[in-house]
Amino acid sequence: MPDVVTLSGSPVMPSRSQHLLCVAEEMLCERGYSVRRIDVRQLPAQALIYGDWNDPAVRAALETVVAARAVIVATPLYKASYSGALKTLLDLLPQAAFAHKPVLAFATGGSLAHLLALDYALKPVLVALGARLMLDNVFATECDLHQTNGAYTLTGSLAQRLSSAVESLAQALEDREALARLRASTVLDQISAVAQ
Ligand SMILES: Cc1cc2nc3c(=O)[nH]c(=O)nc-3n(C[C@H](O)[C@H](O)[C@H](O)COP(=O)(O)O)c2cc1C
Repeated sequence: MPDVVTLSGSPVMPSRSQHLLCVAEEMLCERGYSVRRIDVRQLPAQALIYGDWNDPAVRAALETVVAARAVIVATPLYKASYSGALKTLLDLLPQAAFAHKPVLAFATGGSLAHLLALDYALKPVLVALGARLMLDNVFATECDLHQTNGAYTLTGSLAQRLSSAVESLAQALEDREALARLRASTVLDQISAVAQ
């Protein structure tokens, strides 16, 4: 079981949003956390589109997400929302897949125009999957990530923002009281859902 599972939602390579994940993964590994990445591009497209939970690769990916202690989701912005490729994977996850887990979201977009897509589009989906501890997300535009000879470099404040986000994830993983409260609030959610 990995400490942290990272979900890469870009359908294309090279990917700026996946690069943010790579940097965060390195930071987490340096801190001694185990990390496993699930790249939607590497999963069988037909199984994702047809919602085939029984496909071995899809099933293994879903089990990894459920077993992890924390999640980082990264996506490009497409048409003022997160990618459809990411949605094909999120749709197959069990309802409470993100319960009890700190969740961090990264997104890259062409400009700041759709910055709020993380809040109005992605966040409701993460909450529907049980996420209750949502850490401050990281959004980057093309100007924040320069590409030279196929490699990306972080510019401006992006490296610092990523580092702070990873720090907050590490703190959340170590904060046993907060995680216990998270478990308690999820139980209360379930009780009130049954009572309705
Ligand atoms: C089909 C398509 C739709 C896009 N729509 C948006 C958009 O609505 N808003 C935005 O800010 N960027 C948009 N972009 C730009 C991407 O979000 C941007 O290039 C991003 O960095 C790509 O991330 P990736 O390299 O991880 O795939 C779009 C790009 C494509 C290819």
